[in-house]
Amino acid sequence: MTELELLVDFHKDAERQGPGSSNETIKALNLTGIDKNADLKIADIGCGSGAHTIVLAQNTNGQITGVDLFPEFLDKLDNKAKELRLHNRVITLNKSMDDLPFDNDEFDIIWSEGAIYNIGFEVGIKKWKDYLKTGGYLCVSEITWITNSRPKEIEEFWNEEYPEIDTASNKIKKLEENGYSPIGYFYLTQNSWIDNYYTPMEKRLSSFLEKHNNSDMAKNIVELHKKEIASYKKYKDYYSYGFYIAKKI
Ligand SMILES: C[S@@+](CC[C@H](N)C(=O)[O-])C[C@H]1O[C@@H](n2cnc3c(N)ncnc32)[C@H](O)[C@@H]1O
Repeated sequence: MTELELLVDFHKDAERQGPGSSNETIKALNLTGIDKNADLKIADIGCGSGAHTIVLAQNTNGQITGVDLFPEFLDKLDNKAKELRLHNRVITLNKSMDDLPFDNDEFDIIWSEGAIYNIGFEVGIKKWKDYLKTGGYLCVSEITWITNSRPKEIEEFWNEEYPEIDTASNKIKKLEENGYSPIGYFYLTQNSWIDNYYTPMEKRLSSFLEKHNNSDMAKNIVELHKKEIASYKKYKDYYSYGFYIAKKI
């Protein structure tokens, strides 16, 4: 197994592959003010195993396309959709988010939780705008500074990891500069990180090591995730995922 395959294996049995919660998915959806009973077309990009894709299906009458680069995650979503009898409204597409086969003006909503960083916020909001109808909504969560200043150590870490990290006001400005009208913003609660993402992750660490016979690669993945958790716990007052809701004008 390559390191990437091992990483997918580490995340594939989790309920979600990033921080978030059903309540926050619904909160973002409500902020659009869209008619949820309408015949909506929604793309959920970088959906992983689709915890939020299912919430969108349960809270709208829409046709939802969950997109991800890894079929292992999409298989999980397909199975969940079948179990919940939502498979007639939830379909999956194994494609990269920078090369999507969508038509111009195809969607009422483009959704993406904790995934746009893979191509970068600015590239993503520009590219995906074409697929949105005028008046359609972009709902994306993106790593965000939640205070105006912060300790040097965490600032340097994130600037190295993802230089596009910024404050909400600067992210909102990017939306405005790129043809969107901002409708709403909030950031994910610490429970969405700890209870919904990191605590379940911590519980998987030892079984993951056992499954992979304590290989060096598996140990490396575990150590990286332990460091990520420790860093979040130390600096959680300075960053989160900001949820941005904006209308295509
Ligand atoms: C942090 S996870 C978030 C997953 C999911 N949205 C959630 O919140 O549970 C990022 C997701 O982006 C997907 N991804 C990474 N690069 C991608 C790409 N180029 N195209 C599509 N999906 C990609 C990963 O497979 C993963 O499922």
